[in-house]
Amino acid sequence: MSTTSAVPAARSIADPRLGFTSLEEEGTIDSLQVDGALPQWLEGSLLRTGPAKFEVGERPLAHWFDGMAMLHRYSFAGGRVSYANRFLGSRAFRESRDSGQLGFGEFASDPCRSLFKRLTTAFSPALSDNANVNVARLDDEFIAMTETPLPVVFDPHTLDAAGVAYRPPGQLTTAHPHHDPTCGELVNFAVQLGGRSSYRFFAQHGRSEQRLIASIPVRDPGYVHSFGMSERFLILAEFPFVVSPARLALSGRPYIENYRWEPERGTRLLVVDRASGELRHTFETDAMFAFHHVNAFEQDCELVVDLSAYEDPEVIDALYLDRVRQAQPLPRAKLRRLRLGLDNGQVTSELLCDESLELGRIDYGRRNGRPYRYVFGAGQRGGRWLDQIVKADLQERSAQTWFQDGCFPGEPVFVPEPGNEREDGGVLLSVTLDAERETSFLLVLDAGDLSELARAQVPHHIPFSFHGNFYSQV
Ligand SMILES: [Fe+2]
Repeated sequence: MSTTSAVPAARSIADPRLGFTSLEEEGTIDSLQVDGALPQWLEGSLLRTGPAKFEVGERPLAHWFDGMAMLHRYSFAGGRVSYANRFLGSRAFRESRDSGQLGFGEFASDPCRSLFKRLTTAFSPALSDNANVNVARLDDEFIAMTETPLPVVFDPHTLDAAGVAYRPPGQLTTAHPHHDPTCGELVNFAVQLGGRSSYRFFAQHGRSEQRLIASIPVRDPGYVHSFGMSERFLILAEFPFVVSPARLALSGRPYIENYRWEPERGTRLLVVDRASGELRHTFETDAMFAFHHVNAFEQDCELVVDLSAYEDPEVIDALYLDRVRQAQPLPRAKLRRLRLGLDNGQVTSELLCDESLELGRIDYGRRNGRPYRYVFGAGQRGGRWLDQIVKADLQERSAQTWFQDGCFPGEPVFVPEPGNEREDGGVLLSVTLDAERETSFLLVLDAGDLSELARAQVPHHIPFSFHGNFYSQV
């Protein structure tokens, strides 16, 4: 394994807690100070969402995933970059701002409701539209997404919210839809909860066209944050972190506290034919947990499924805000490859990279669903938080890293250079917290060798966010 870095190795003593501190400022900065040189070909906008306010009124929220969503836009043109940020004007945000109280249940924080109110809302709970996980393009509109079925439309220029775009066919969904370039559809997953619960895959075209691809009965659904899509198949990894729909409806506990870890169930991989919607294969393997699939493709009668896997869902507990603020160690995700034997039902598993790797990105437009070589992600050099960028070379089974002491880079979004056919021919964009300066910057790395091309300095900190995408037309 080869390792390169921007600065000599040193133990990180910096403190990532500023990344979990609310940002109240909203606004637009026409031109950020740029150290280095941005590529002239880089034109377009990186749109991101993430939690940015961790209190409602006087009340602290419980979990990183609970924070009120803020949209961020970094727009590149002519070697310059502008920045805009704004709280997502969701119903949940407006109500919390206006009343000083949490109006809707979040991932691990619930409104303070009377027993009567809890009983009356148990079977039709008011769902939060606090879309703090990811952004996607829906035809010519943009949506911010979370795991409730309320994707919020927003204007990519003003960052104004414009209501819910459509309703997925279930009460839970993912903020990681796949994009089908052949027809422009967004393909996503939902869980229909009830007396007869089901996993569902569906395709969304614009706001109004929705097509159910598959419906698979399930008794106690697993927690699903993302799924895989190859050219022929949709792949649902069902980890044994499951919930009883009745318990979810009646317990009165915050959403995620209703899930339980049952490792004896192992992990199931459900493989659905995209064309027919048929459940074609069900594989079983050891218990594990993951938020993020990285890629999936067929090769030699095997369906290869790559994901960032943990041994168990302890990472969810580790992301409660009181724990991250106490600087407790964070479990490490490892890039794991599952090979599903399409003709023999066997599953084999191997680690692809020694470095930890989360928030993995690939050259999605050209490589999703196909054999590929590179994964870019954020990893842990120290134990406390994601503090380096990792480029995993799956062919050479090696990794390169970029780190700087005291800096905490987020998800590296790969932007291909137009006309460059190399899979790593482009740049990585990563919003990075500089804990010593107490500000954030947008880091621009050459994806080929992880050398730093530029950093655009933001005059304040940006709380750690989850995901975003680059759009050359915005
Ligand atoms: Fe995610």
